[in-house]
Order: sequence, then structure tokens, then C-alpha cells
Amino acid sequence: MNKITIQTLEKHKNANSKFACITAYDSTTAWAAESAEIDLILVGDTLGMVIQGKIDTLDVSIEDMEYHIRAVSRGCNKPMIMADMPFMAARTLDHALDGAMRLMQAGAHIIKFEGGKWLSPIIIELRKQGVPVCAHMGLTPQHINSFGGFKVQATREEEAQLLIDEAKALELAGASVILLECIPRSVTQTLVRSLNIPTIGIGAGSAPDGQILVFQDLMGLYPNKPARFAKNYLELSEPPSIVGALKLFKEEVEMHQYPEEKHSFKGVAL
Ligand code: KIV
Repeated sequence: MNKITIQTLEKHKNANSKFACITAYDSTTAWAAESAEIDLILVGDTLGMVIQGKIDTLDVSIEDMEYHIRAVSRGCNKPMIMADMPFMAARTLDHALDGAMRLMQAGAHIIKFEGGKWLSPIIIELRKQGVPVCAHMGLTPQHINSFGGFKVQATREEEAQLLIDEAKALELAGASVILLECIPRSVTQTLVRSLNIPTIGIGAGSAPDGQILVFQDLMGLYPNKPARFAKNYLELSEPPSIVGALKLFKEEVEMHQYPEEKHSFKGVAL
């Protein structure tokens, strides 16, 4: 496996081939991901929930992110490492630039921000400094208090159109990747076709160029009811093993076998 870069993800987009991503928060999981040839590791602020046991991601700090990015980057060499900018850490342009510097210096290769068109000035400045940006759209968990919970987004035509228009604006500003969470598969399909940059999906249907799952969801570690898109690959791997489960996930993504229709949401036709 070669080192994965933005250019690798762009090649997938252009070749219409798929890539596989997981979240990881520690060095051993990063090693397992690399052993299974997972393309991209997200050090996500989901760590607030699955590692720290909190009810949402809002209390994760830049220091928490730095700690976990350092651990992940010690465990692998080849996967691309994406890092989440935590809640309110991009409240001004200066905060965003400072935060991105800290996460990149901890070992990230690309920074993910939750948000829409308002991220454009941040993306423009970070691009100047050589920092690639992923914009996370749709169900952005840092906004659950505005959304009223973890709910599917862009279910109405106007919202879907706004999402598409904002994604195009972010591409124009210089975003390198768009991550789409919990939006109807019909909306994703239109969105993916109208962008030239790679997309990653979770609960967004099979159209994105890459798929991502939270490591714990792949291993069947569900303290609560699993999300519709979660799939326990540990129980499917033969003999059961963590690296085997990750390899199976990658294989199913590449073969267009995951996600199935039952892992996504129905919505408006655009
Ligand atoms: O923080 C995270 O793990 C995420 C994924 C759910 C995409 O943003």
C-alpha cells in the first residue's frame, strides 16, 4: 500500500473507484487500520462519546484532539490522517488558523470542519498555508442542539438545494473533500455528481467516493441502539479478528457491497 494523499482520493473520484475510511483514536487501532489497508483514518471528535463516555461531542477540546492525533500518527505511516476541529474551535478566523496549526503539528494531514458556506474564508486562508480542508455537511453532530437531536438532514427540497449550493461554494473556496452525514441517498447522488472533489459518506447512501464508519460501530460495540448505517464486521469476519473485520469492510466498500439501501435514508427526489 502506498502512502495515501489528497491526490490518491482525487484519483478514486476520477476513476469512479471507492475508498474506505474508519475512525481511530489510538495507536493500536491505527496499526490495525494500516494492516487492513484502510485508506483514511479520521481522528474524530466522536472520541468524546466512544472514548470519554459523554453524551455528545461538544466537550472535546483541542488538547484532547492533539493527544489522540499524536497517538494515531505513531501507529501508522500510510493512511491519510484527518482530524476534527472541535466545537467552537473555529469561532474566529484566528482561532481556526491556530487550531489547524496545532492539529497539523500533532500529525494530521487534513482538517475537517463541520459547517457550510461560512467556512469559505477559513478554507481560503488554510489553503494559502498548505492545509487541506474537509467540510463536514448534513448531520453535523456539533449542531445537535440546533437540529433537536441526531436527525437526518436535507429531507425537504429547499434544504437539499441549499446543501448542494453550499457544497459547490465550498469546492470553489478550495475545500479538498466533502464529508456527508445522514442525508437522503437521492440528495447525495445529485451532490456527488455536481462536485469535482472527492466525497466521503456515512449514512448517505452508496454514491460517495469513500465510506466511513466509526471503529466501534464496525466492531459491534453498541452501548445503545445502533445507527441505521452501522454494520458489525467483526461477527462477519472468518475467523473473527479486528484486522479481518477491517479488511472485509474495505473489500465491501470497494466492491460496492456496502452500504446497501437499508443502510441509507429515503428522501426528496431532485
Ligand atoms: O467525529 C466523527 O467520528 C465523525 C464521523 C462520524 C464522520 O465526524
